[in-house]
Amino acid sequence: MPSSGSVVYLDNAATSHPKPEAVYRAADGALRAGGNPGRGGHRVALAAGRRVLAAREAVAALFGVKDAARVLFTSSATDSLNLALKGLLHPGDHCITTVAEHNALRRPLVALALRGVEVTWLPVSPEGIVDPGGVRAALRPNTRLIALAHGSNVTGALQPVAELGEIARRAGVFLLVDAAQTAGSHPIDVEAMGIHLLAAPGHKGLLGPQGTGILYVAPDVPLRPVREGGTGSMATLAEQPDVFPEGFESGTLNVPGIAGVGAGADFLLSVGVEAVHARVGALTAALVEGLRRLPGVTVHGPADPARRCGVVSLSVDGLDPGALEEQLDSAFGVVGRAGLHCAPGAHEVLGTLPLGGTMRLSPGYFNTEEDIEAAVKAVAAVAALARR
Ligand SMILES: Cc1ncc(COP(=O)(O)O)c(C=O)c1O
Repeated sequence: MPSSGSVVYLDNAATSHPKPEAVYRAADGALRAGGNPGRGGHRVALAAGRRVLAAREAVAALFGVKDAARVLFTSSATDSLNLALKGLLHPGDHCITTVAEHNALRRPLVALALRGVEVTWLPVSPEGIVDPGGVRAALRPNTRLIALAHGSNVTGALQPVAELGEIARRAGVFLLVDAAQTAGSHPIDVEAMGIHLLAAPGHKGLLGPQGTGILYVAPDVPLRPVREGGTGSMATLAEQPDVFPEGFESGTLNVPGIAGVGAGADFLLSVGVEAVHARVGALTAALVEGLRRLPGVTVHGPADPARRCGVVSLSVDGLDPGALEEQLDSAFGVVGRAGLHCAPGAHEVLGTLPLGGTMRLSPGYFNTEEDIEAAVKAVAAVAALARR
């Protein structure tokens, strides 16, 4: 029996599925309980505020954040990255990033470059990894930020974040990490790794509902709010207050979504991120190993499983990735995602841009060994047909 009902769900890089039971209950409970946090002193509003605070504290605990107020709730990783980049960088500042970034980081930086921010787009290796020496060499007197994804959603490559944190610390610049593919499934300690800004969606490895995201902001980062509006307090101030967290969360919060993220974080804390990491790592390694043995199948990204997150991109000779996705789904019930995955630069590195990208299979905590076997068998069958 597949882990997710009638389908073998291997699209956790797009959004994790299923969620822990406690997540469904928390979102439903918050919706039924009602109340708008910070908007009213009555018991219903206060209880809603407590739900949000508990979620903030759980997320903070997950990443080793001492002051939970520095964890902001957003609507997605994209929203978090926009806030981090546009709230920090001024015209004349310099930012170092890589050519392989997701559009959620790439496009805000391109927009900022049009407004006078200087951007260096560093190359990555054929496996997708940036050279820390290249980052060091790219530093300028006006460098303010190093920004990149911890794990690639195309190659699965993990970047040497702790090493980059040390480079950032020595140079006195900030480090922004897009942890969309690693938050919840890889141990991340913002202080130990020298991370000043950590952006993540709530709906992937944090196991929460869609429409959620988080941004951690270290105490020394002079972030400006990029969205003005009601904060539930300081209403007589005409200007947007830059107090944490409410100055950065104007507008009514997605309380059911946030309650779900809190329950997801609680689940991860109880299981232990190390255990989740070990499980996702073992499933990913088994998938890579099984696929690599198949004739006509190319598995992209790092050969060393320790340098990968739970993302496996593959190509089948003679078959367009969209056709592979369709056949895996319709004939075998194996669901993953085909295409460019919003990161065209990563495909330029792999050489898969002209092919229309790759097929991506991405295991999550709730997948089973049987799911991996079923996926490998399905790819073998489709690849054999394509060779005829
Ligand atoms: C590396 C990376 N960054 C950012 C995002 C954007 O996440 P969201 O869709 O939650 O904004 C994704 C989503 O796939 C991603 O893989």
